[in-house]
Amino acid sequence: MNFLASPHLHITTWVIAIILFLVALAITNPKVVHMILRLFYILIIITGIALFMKGMDYGQGMLYGLKFLAGILVIGMMEMSLVKKKKGKPFTTFVVLFFVFFFITLFLGFKLPMGINFLA
Ligand code: HEM
Repeated sequence: MNFLASPHLHITTWVIAIILFLVALAITNPKVVHMILRLFYILIIITGIALFMKGMDYGQGMLYGLKFLAGILVIGMMEMSLVKKKKGKPFTTFVVLFFVFFFITLFLGFKLPMGINFLA
């Protein structure tokens, strides 16, 4: 399963997910888009865990732990925003939190040693 621990595969999964999330926020009936987005959550998590396991060789366990947590929170905020929107409840807070955790996750991802690490 070594191919799963690829930064490019991971980036592909989350870029597609972010696009689907923004589309689902914008359109009136996001049912199908939301369904596909949920599939991408799984793909982000699978590739993220594969990278995480490989990352344990780099001796930066704490930062990897925070990256894991931040990534999960980004997914959590996408899901909360869309569920609140579906129920007709206010969801702006969750969209804001989505952006906050997204930038934290990007920062950590680009800081950690695998793949692109221009912030290291
Ligand atoms: C939408 C959510 C997520 C975003 C936006 C995101 C973003 C990123 C970015 C930008 C990188 C750096 C890629 C590179 O260096 O080429 C990365 C790597 C990584 N991500 Fe994620 N990620 C997300 C979710 C997750 C999740 C859920 C996990 C854990 C299950 C995870 C674990 C990792 C690990 C371990 C790395 C490798 C870090 C390294 O050494 O470079 N990510 N991610």
